Amino acid sequence: MWKGRFSENTADIVLNYSQSLDVDWCLAPFDIQGSLAHAQMLVSVGLLTPDEGLRMEQGLKQILREIEEDKFKPSIELEDVHMNIEHRLTEILGSLGEKLHTGRSRNDQIATTVRLFLRDKLADFQEKMRALLEVLLGRAKAHLYVVVPGYTHLQQAQPISLGHYWMAHFQAFRRDYTRLQAALDGMQECPLGSGALAGSTLPLDRFFTSEALGFQSPSENSLDSVAQRDYLLDYHYFATGFAIHCSRLSEDLVIYNSQEFGWINLPDAFCTGSSMMPQKKNPDVLELTRGRTGQIIGHLLDLIISLKGLPMTYNRDLQEDKRGLLASLTAVEAILSIFPPFLSQVEADQDRAILGFQNGLTLATDVAEYLVGKGIPFREAHWKAGQVVRYCLDHNCSLFQLSLSEWQDLVPEVEEDLLPLLDLKTSVSRRQTYGGTSFSEVNRQIDHGWNWIKSIKIIANKAKS
Ligand code: ARG
Repeated sequence: MWKGRFSENTADIVLNYSQSLDVDWCLAPFDIQGSLAHAQMLVSVGLLTPDEGLRMEQGLKQILREIEEDKFKPSIELEDVHMNIEHRLTEILGSLGEKLHTGRSRNDQIATTVRLFLRDKLADFQEKMRALLEVLLGRAKAHLYVVVPGYTHLQQAQPISLGHYWMAHFQAFRRDYTRLQAALDGMQECPLGSGALAGSTLPLDRFFTSEALGFQSPSENSLDSVAQRDYLLDYHYFATGFAIHCSRLSEDLVIYNSQEFGWINLPDAFCTGSSMMPQKKNPDVLELTRGRTGQIIGHLLDLIISLKGLPMTYNRDLQEDKRGLLASLTAVEAILSIFPPFLSQVEADQDRAILGFQNGLTLATDVAEYLVGKGIPFREAHWKAGQVVRYCLDHNCSLFQLSLSEWQDLVPEVEEDLLPLLDLKTSVSRRQTYGGTSFSEVNRQIDHGWNWIKSIKIIANKAKS
């Protein structure tokens, strides 16, 4: 396309090095969508006649069909998706095809095409995220009354409702959903018409194309429009948060599923066996997720590092932004597809859970808080409860086995009303602070969660129509 300026053809090795079809050919339908709007705009400002516009539209739609029917084999001599489509249009329409690129550069074109592509993809991700969030709400409700140890430092801390645990992950994914929405909101400006960097001498109507493509407005500054990749960073921020959350959830479930913990059961269909050890049932889906999420996070760093030293405005480095983007989208999509059916079948085993913390020491804070209720300053109460724990450890007995007189020998302030509090379920049900683990609070959280899902569904349906 640029032969006019050159005395030699581009070397084959350079063609191979610089072509981007392996990453941008999947964008073809969105590139055509952008071109259709651009052609309409050229008609509206008189740079194409209505008849030329019509023929161009037919030509572009023919190319779209050829792509859909897998009849269009792009060629690397034409470097990228944009030039392959334009070249084909010229084959079909002759010199009229050469008018398509009027007032446009591949720099503003790719920024537009990727936004159109992502808008579609991320709307689909939102739907999948909603399904995941609903599954977590379902698990929380199903496991509301299952009491398990809660951990800090992976040391048994206090008894919690397993429903509360699932809701903790719900909250993390809810924030991811909001970040996904923010990424979509950040793609509302249309870069088309910015040209290579400085706009155009031709009377382009950027408001026309922006509206035709469903954007909120044309982007404000042509230099920024072709130079910036914040709309991709916004996606990667979402993906990174999501990856971290998936990885931590996976790690938890791997641990809770191990023989030593054993209080969740993973569905057989989502686990694999060992080629050597007949007894094994391995949580591979979780491990693969933990493994792959590292790559998703890596793609954010990849883009950040590419961007940080780039001079204004477009630089060819930016072509590489799509490689990480597509890899990240593929990985996120795979997790979003497998997590809902997988998690919806995770079962809890209350009896196994109890075995792990029968010594009752996770109720030590309850004892200290009971003593606070008797007027003892918390620091002193903490010390006294600590003495009781020490006694149980030394005598190898559980907190539940101590008789009232043993309690009173250790802590004279203890009265009979302590004994009914020394029960795991009671302990959970008494943590009634807002956001605490009591069954009633977790139920409130679940209801709140469902209401939130309803509200985002209404927004999503509005955006669709
Ligand atoms: N394929 C390029 C990209 O993905 C767009 C082409 C811009 N090339 C150029 N020489 N200005 O970013």
